[in-house]
Amino acid sequence: MTQKLLFVCLGNICRSPAAEGLVRDLCPEVETDSCGTGAWHVGEPPYGPMQAAAAARGTDLSDLRARQFTRGDFDRFDLILVMDHDNRANVEALRPSGNTTEVKLFAEYAGQAGVSEVPDPYYTRDFDGCLDLLEEAAAGLKRAL
Ligand code: 4NP
Repeated sequence: MTQKLLFVCLGNICRSPAAEGLVRDLCPEVETDSCGTGAWHVGEPPYGPMQAAAAARGTDLSDLRARQFTRGDFDRFDLILVMDHDNRANVEALRPSGNTTEVKLFAEYAGQAGVSEVPDPYYTRDFDGCLDLLEEAAAGLKRAL
């Protein structure tokens, strides 16, 4: 059965679309999507500086469009990968009763001691550092699938 993976961040214009783009390039056999817990950027493409940084390393994010996480996502995906603890709390608050879909911190797949969150480059402005961590996590996820 095809694995369906959902990447979640806050705005769905930086971290989760970048994670989605990297994983769909690395693991074309899995189905991917991404979304944000917030609604500010619904319908927008990924943030320009993030698109440019991803394109510079060969990953095209230009077709992606932001949407907001909904409780129905729990039933549509096999694994939900969040970028930070706030994302996890916001997602868990919408879990339908009886649903057992796993929610994991994507950064933990990078296997770096003490790193459980992907810092938000919308605020840090470190788009390349973000992509470095997301690439490590994508490689770890591929090994775990
Ligand atoms: P993301 O970054 O969660 O990695 O997409 C953000 C982008 C925009 C906003 C927040 C986070 N915002 O509030 O507009």
